[in-house]
Amino acid sequence: MTTPKLYIETVGCQMNVLDSELVVGSLRRQGYELVHTPQEADVIFYNTCSVRQHAEDKIYSALGRLRGHMERHPDKVLGVLGCMAQKDQELILRRAPYVNIVCGTGQLAQLPALIEQVKATREPQLALSLARKEASREEVTASFESYDPMRDPSMRPTPFQAYVRVQIGCDKFCTYCVVPSTRGPEQGRHPEHIAAEVKQLADEGAIEITLLGQTVNSYRYKYGDGRVVRLSDLLEKIHDTPGLARIKFITNFPRDMGDDLLDAVRDLPRVMPYLHVPAQSGCDIMLKRMKRMYTIESYREMLVRCREKIPGVAISSDFIVGFCGETEESFQKTCDLVRESRFKNSFIFKYSARAGTKADELYPDDVPEEVKKVRNNELLAIQSEVSLADQRQMVGRTVEVLVEGPSKNALKKGETSGPTQLTGRTPTDHIVVFDGNPRLAGRILPVTIREAAAFTLFGDIVTGEQVGAESREPLPERQGERSPEPSEKRFTLPLV
Ligand code: SAH
Ligand code: SF4
Ligand code: F3S
Repeated sequence: MTTPKLYIETVGCQMNVLDSELVVGSLRRQGYELVHTPQEADVIFYNTCSVRQHAEDKIYSALGRLRGHMERHPDKVLGVLGCMAQKDQELILRRAPYVNIVCGTGQLAQLPALIEQVKATREPQLALSLARKEASREEVTASFESYDPMRDPSMRPTPFQAYVRVQIGCDKFCTYCVVPSTRGPEQGRHPEHIAAEVKQLADEGAIEITLLGQTVNSYRYKYGDGRVVRLSDLLEKIHDTPGLARIKFITNFPRDMGDDLLDAVRDLPRVMPYLHVPAQSGCDIMLKRMKRMYTIESYREMLVRCREKIPGVAISSDFIVGFCGETEESFQKTCDLVRESRFKNSFIFKYSARAGTKADELYPDDVPEEVKKVRNNELLAIQSEVSLADQRQMVGRTVEVLVEGPSKNALKKGETSGPTQLTGRTPTDHIVVFDGNPRLAGRILPVTIREAAAFTLFGDIVTGEQVGAESREPLPERQGERSPEPSEKRFTLPLV
């Protein structure tokens, strides 16, 4: 029997990257091999995102391009997974009748069985979680419970960096956002399960763990006896896992940025001083319409508190421009916030109306696309200036960099061995490029910053360190040497 081949393409956030890793892990165990193009594959999967229209359009076009291929190869299996599967459901089959599997975020563990069902019956298979109003909270929650046990290091961007889900779903219901319906009710995973997964990953060679949750700092787990575990407790719990050097967590909800968490980031040396805390807008009227549950004054106070508690912390943000009713005056308030907040960087999005959300129901999408574009560019330009000023302060400093591998430039030129341009990240998540041997991937080394651009720092490895001098960050003993694979062998997951 020939080895079955799998192609998977991923759009969306880190949750989807992690889900794809898990899907590949489970299918590899069934004997599947990964391939680079849909044409080579027996099973073709798209792991989808619905957060903006653009992300959905990309997938529907990709499906459109496969129509002829699927008609010529009726034995192949085509599956749409993830958030758009949960959101659009049968609509996907109406728009692309040659799709065989529609599988929501909470049902991915069923995929091996669904593939077999399609092969046996050639009937389309739908595996979806319950809608939030369809049943009791307990039943809906159970239908979204993800599975996280089977990890596949070869699917990660690097073998020494891994995501761990600590929280599933979201209960914030920001009025513009589909995530509470595509990912279901908020549920914190059991702390022991998280700790066990972190340990397994560290044993397999991961030195950096990023804890994932839509509002990760709202994480709570309540034991039967009433004891509550918060994110700060969880960080403490996993902190001393042998082999771990760096712990990060994303994404934070501004209102839930408790002092206990900030103290934990300050006091636990392996927790990196980097916080992603999206503001979304600098105008209270917009924040109220978005139902973000904080004011700009309280957001500013939160920033001050973060910086007082954690010296040297880097903070990044997300913004939506052109939300319903955003006037030039509201937008200028957002510009003011970006000018004064010294964010390391900001992700800026044009508002995209999503069917089924409160904003779509209540407010007209009344900012013209052209205006959204202009505001997007204006805010980007302001953030670039802020980022450049922030990065320039780093020139002359020596920072600990986790080497990720050859830079994009080096990969383009095909340089994956011998001295080349490498890329890595500082504890504050700043990107640094420097020359070195690709074999240094997975090491934490001191790099002196020589030059700064808005989103990249340029530096030099401190002489003598290439051969293994002590690093300031506690890098515990590990048995055997890690042997990072050359990057071109790895599968890159395209993101929107
Ligand atoms: N849970 C995270 C992020 C979820 S989605 C949080 O709450 O911060 C990532 C980002 O996409 C959001 O921060 C927001 O800036 C953006 N986004 C979400 N819905 C959007 C929409 N309908 N249109 C444009 N941007 C959107
Ligand atoms: Fe969406 Fe708001 Fe939840 Fe983030 S907090 S996932 S923006 S509803
Ligand atoms: Fe992520 Fe997109 Fe779903 S941002 S949670 S993949 S809608």
